[in-house]
Amino acid sequence: MEAMTFVLFGATGDLAKRKIFPALYNLFLDKKLPLPISIIGVGRGELSDTDFQKHVKDSLKAFSRRSLHDDSNLEVFIRAFRYSHVDAIKAEGYKGLLELIKQREEELNIPENRMFYLSVAPELFNVIASNIKESGLGSTKGWKRLIIEKPFGHDLKSAQVLNDKLSKAFDEEEIFRIDHYLGKPMVQNLEALGFANPVLQALWNNQYIANVQITATETVGVEERADYYDKAGAIRDMFQNHMLQMLMMTAMQLPKQISAEEIRNEKRKIIESLRPLKKENVMNHVIRGQYGPGEIQGKPVVGYTGEPEVAPSSLNDTFVAARLYVDDDFWRGVPFYIRTGKRMTEKSTRIVIEFKNTLKDLYRGQEEETAPNLLVIEINPNESVSLQLNSKNPLNNGKIEPVSVDFSSKQEDVPEAYERLIYDAMRGDSTFFAHWKEVELSWKWVQPILEAFEENTIPLQLYPSGSTGPDASRRLLAEEGYKWW
Ligand code: BG6
Repeated sequence: MEAMTFVLFGATGDLAKRKIFPALYNLFLDKKLPLPISIIGVGRGELSDTDFQKHVKDSLKAFSRRSLHDDSNLEVFIRAFRYSHVDAIKAEGYKGLLELIKQREEELNIPENRMFYLSVAPELFNVIASNIKESGLGSTKGWKRLIIEKPFGHDLKSAQVLNDKLSKAFDEEEIFRIDHYLGKPMVQNLEALGFANPVLQALWNNQYIANVQITATETVGVEERADYYDKAGAIRDMFQNHMLQMLMMTAMQLPKQISAEEIRNEKRKIIESLRPLKKENVMNHVIRGQYGPGEIQGKPVVGYTGEPEVAPSSLNDTFVAARLYVDDDFWRGVPFYIRTGKRMTEKSTRIVIEFKNTLKDLYRGQEEETAPNLLVIEINPNESVSLQLNSKNPLNNGKIEPVSVDFSSKQEDVPEAYERLIYDAMRGDSTFFAHWKEVELSWKWVQPILEAFEENTIPLQLYPSGSTGPDASRRLLAEEGYKWW
């Protein structure tokens, strides 16, 4: 990998501390960082290089998945860090940053390859990108790249405006939009499951599949993020990005070859084929919920509107379930059900493929109906793939019962999502980043839902904290004779 400068905006923020420094450190331990490397933290606070290096070290102690190795090793890593105090909205400040970047490029004899990571409030994305261009930071003899965190816009319009602005400073191939779900090993594994297994590949269509269920539930509530979350809701926080990305990854068809371009083309075909939802139909296909008071792991918790910084009259969604259709030849007629919510029974992200139960009549009369075959992909916190089949249980009078065949289980020491994604961006591999078209079409699909929620034309269903969500979400599946697995 080519040597580079890694410029981190928001270097004293929460994400840097919890995810980005630990990811860089673990890449370093795995010898995946190009060395020497120049890492420059940019922030508003006035810190010396030594203060900043101590801050990095403290973050690693608290958050690295592997403990700190012997001092000499750690010192080599820490010495790569420098700090630059810049007020990101003021163009003047970038001059000093550019000097520091150049000085380090000279000292370390590294080419002008520059990676800019924006781990900052979204309102700063376009200001920083344009300042990078205007100040000359982006005029390099090598390559330049931009890694950008979510949220990418607040609705279709604002996402388009943001993208127009970013594209004045960076080309699409230079922009790496992070969706950390795409860095999860099991989400990345979806590609291999479908494409490296002819057995599954043959079944990956509406002839065999009855429905697909994509679930991401959490036990945590709004935490200390009411300021952001109350304006975003589950629809923007999880649905528009992570959930639709998982849908694209599950439904995409075999690409001509395994490359970033081809995979993203296939994903795009899926999002393009999603049957559009009209605002007046949102209420028939989307459930909007909000957690009330209840119990989480035996402890009483307040409802959403009782949370600090949340208005008692807030109608924000903390739960969304929806039924979607991919109107292409492979998936026509197969419902995709998505649900995501906070303050639910368990933390669990999983995808369940329910197969058509065409043989169930064969056993009718002698037994109860056989259960459908299920392919269950556990993404988080468990990582596993299992297939539920039917088999006679000799210990129960030969009754036909579902058995689960496990293919894989969680391995220790797997790199975290941020390690994988930063490493890919450093290599210039954009397979597991969101392309602008995917983002735009996701917003476009979600837009009528945003409007219906805004206009309050969809009932807000309260569900107790610690439950599996509003009853209405079960009815959504029951309408077609299914249930959530
Ligand atoms: C983030 C959301 O993108 O994903 C959070 O902003 C959510 O609200 C989190 O809690 C869930 O991520 P994970 O990796 O814990 O499933």
